[in-house]
Amino acid sequence: MRPPPHLLEVDDLSPAELAEVLDLSDDPSPPQALNGKGMALLFEKPSARTRHSMEMAVVQLGGHPVSVAAAEVGIDERESAEDVARTLACFHAAIGARVKSHSLLERMATVSSVPVVNMLSDQAHPLQALADLLTVKQEFGEISGCRIAFVGDANNVSRSLAIGAGLAGAQFVISGPPGYQFDRDDLDRIAATGIAAEVVDDPIEAVAGAHVVYTDVWVSMGEEAQASEKVDAFASRYSVNEALIGQADADAIFLHCLPANPGQEASEEVLYGPQSRIWQQAENRMHAARGLLAWLLGVT
Ligand code: CP
Ligand code: NVA
Repeated sequence: MRPPPHLLEVDDLSPAELAEVLDLSDDPSPPQALNGKGMALLFEKPSARTRHSMEMAVVQLGGHPVSVAAAEVGIDERESAEDVARTLACFHAAIGARVKSHSLLERMATVSSVPVVNMLSDQAHPLQALADLLTVKQEFGEISGCRIAFVGDANNVSRSLAIGAGLAGAQFVISGPPGYQFDRDDLDRIAATGIAAEVVDDPIEAVAGAHVVYTDVWVSMGEEAQASEKVDAFASRYSVNEALIGQADADAIFLHCLPANPGQEASEEVLYGPQSRIWQQAENRMHAARGLLAWLLGVT
């Protein structure tokens, strides 16, 4: 039997498949792809947007979401991650997991007979990138040719966005302090999409001419021990304020995956100002999740 498709990183989709997922995300009458079937949603880390957008996407596809804190399941304690995946596949048409270590997702996907979806790992946040690209498409009509400037950490969110941007034909530039930039493997993986990422130290150079200015927290979940070191490295040069976004294209929009620390990686004026599309972007998490699930289940 052919293995099911999974989404552990955006480049699990080809450029054509990504375009198809984004088209499905905008479909006002989604197919009832789940039709009474379940989806298991496992969380090793907290979530607001991901849990609610996934649950509602499953409902809109005619399915039933079952969200569980991973601690209740006891992954690799009560039983192995592999046996958890095999067990959940007995009851559910798909499995979503938010994990501390990306390798846990890979282990589950290796044995799962149903699609496994990355709901955020230390490495990647592909569902966020899908919603981000959907927001760019809604704003500018097409993604191809847009210039996306990410000011901040080379983390799960910027990595998935850079890969997704490349697949969709957009330019991606990232600006952060030395030591917190993409490594060679990241840059090679992004370049494999056909569009290499630009890396610059200077945030003003990064946002010049950008259509999208994006940032995320400087300290991600699980990095609490490095918090003061990271805040010192980023502050205040890499904070997106009105002066910085003023250097971007006049019609530029501001995006943030949320949750945010107002006054740190972005000022309140930018987060809640006229260029911000953060709530449209948050709502798009649900539409993008629905489009992705409809696609994954449609090809299963
Ligand atoms: N952006 C995002 O993934 O939000 P949550 O952590 O609240 O799910
Ligand atoms: N980079 C952040 C994203 C949260 C949605 C984190 O991993 O905590």
